[in-house]
Amino acid sequence: MADIQNSSFCSCNPLELFEQVTAQGEKVRSLKAEKAPKDEIEAAVKLLLSLKLSYKTSTGQEYKAGSPPTDFTPVSNGPGDAQDEDFVDPWTVQTSNAKGVDYDKLIVRFGSSKIDKDLINRIERVTGQKPHHFLRRGIFFSHRDMHQILDAYENKKPFYLYTGRGPSSEALHVGHLIPFIFTKWLQEVFNVPLVIQLTDDEKYLWKDLTIEKAYQYTIENVKDIIACGFDVNKTFIFSDLDYLGSSPEFYKNIIKVQKHVTFNQVKGIFGFTDSDCIGKISFPAIQAAPSFCTSFPQIFNNRKDVQCLIPCAIDQDPYFRMTRDVAPRIGYAKPALMHSVFFPALQGAQTKMSASDPNSSIFLTDTPKQIKTKINKHAFSGGKDTVEEHRKYGGNCDVDVSYMYLTFFLEDDDKLEQIKQAYTSGALLTGELKKALIETLQPLIATHQQRRKQVTSEMVKEFMTPRKLAFDY
Ligand code: TRP
Repeated sequence: MADIQNSSFCSCNPLELFEQVTAQGEKVRSLKAEKAPKDEIEAAVKLLLSLKLSYKTSTGQEYKAGSPPTDFTPVSNGPGDAQDEDFVDPWTVQTSNAKGVDYDKLIVRFGSSKIDKDLINRIERVTGQKPHHFLRRGIFFSHRDMHQILDAYENKKPFYLYTGRGPSSEALHVGHLIPFIFTKWLQEVFNVPLVIQLTDDEKYLWKDLTIEKAYQYTIENVKDIIACGFDVNKTFIFSDLDYLGSSPEFYKNIIKVQKHVTFNQVKGIFGFTDSDCIGKISFPAIQAAPSFCTSFPQIFNNRKDVQCLIPCAIDQDPYFRMTRDVAPRIGYAKPALMHSVFFPALQGAQTKMSASDPNSSIFLTDTPKQIKTKINKHAFSGGKDTVEEHRKYGGNCDVDVSYMYLTFFLEDDDKLEQIKQAYTSGALLTGELKKALIETLQPLIATHQQRRKQVTSEMVKEFMTPRKLAFDY
């Protein structure tokens, strides 16, 4: 359920109401157990019933112990889901559909808004720039409060960008670049500060990694991020393992979030269980904190009112639904969001890629030859089995991974459209389509590798030093 729907019914936050009902239920139980006086129990039951009623009016749902309001829960991933439902959370993406996740349905389930033509046109008007092809092609497809960011921008009110990466391996694949490429574009067209969080703490908690290894991955990943071309005067990159211990203001925001989110709530949102370590349970507060500008006093000069915009893949949304829910309760603006689709694995759009399977994707360290072999051997094809059939019936771009990759990386709209038509009609064969992708990716990755080579440890250090950026607050 979207936030807007809640507030129109009741001034009370559904989560607060949920907690009140839970607490009152416990009170009734203990009064009964203590064999308290009858009128006392009756009064407590009466209050419980009226709280339940308010809850129902506010959320449109019956109160169910242990299940917070659905606005706050992960996207119905639990048992009882219809078989054809997609599964999306920060750790798993699964769908049975070869075209990939049904993103329109996801928008409804997550309660976000579609990035529609109106919004794209408005971004173009406000910035005076042609919208990025990730916007034009629906790769960034969903948002929260983007109009608010644009209103603020038009009124010369500042905002900043926040994105991040969990450093789970040394080598990034091409899909990992998507949020960074887009964030860089946003930073350039809006000219705003950017903070990039590397959650090495998260990867230490979730994976079989030592702290040292996780930190080493951070440094290696930061080099790839810098190679995307960020401006050091406008960008602060930080490792949680480093920055948290050195920033009291950041820590204060973490504990503010921790105080206002219950175990029940994170269980509902992230599916934690009683046997998950407490590090995992409290981690979401650490990913939430950079959404508040006071976490970076060196950049924002202790201002409290600079709104945050987070470009991220849609699987990160649960963190930020939680963040948006607590924000007003701890005196901050809710961060706005722009969500991207997932980058498909070479084997097909049913799942996200895995950094641990070298054949599931193209890595930024691959040689031109590896790129060619992987695409020819592993890229799922929407083409027909024989040339004759293909010429007769044509290929299916909706499930063809090489075509999908081209929509991400081939910037030329006309060329892309030509390829689509030729492939669909059967004029273009699968081998030729793959060749177009190979020829697009080889130079792109070679350029990235060259730029990464030029990233020195001094540059890494500079990006990662807490400092004032080229903006006055
Ligand atoms: N949890 C993210 C991951 O595993 C990393 C991350 C932290 C992030 N903060 C973010 C991603 C903000 C997008 C936006 O990759």
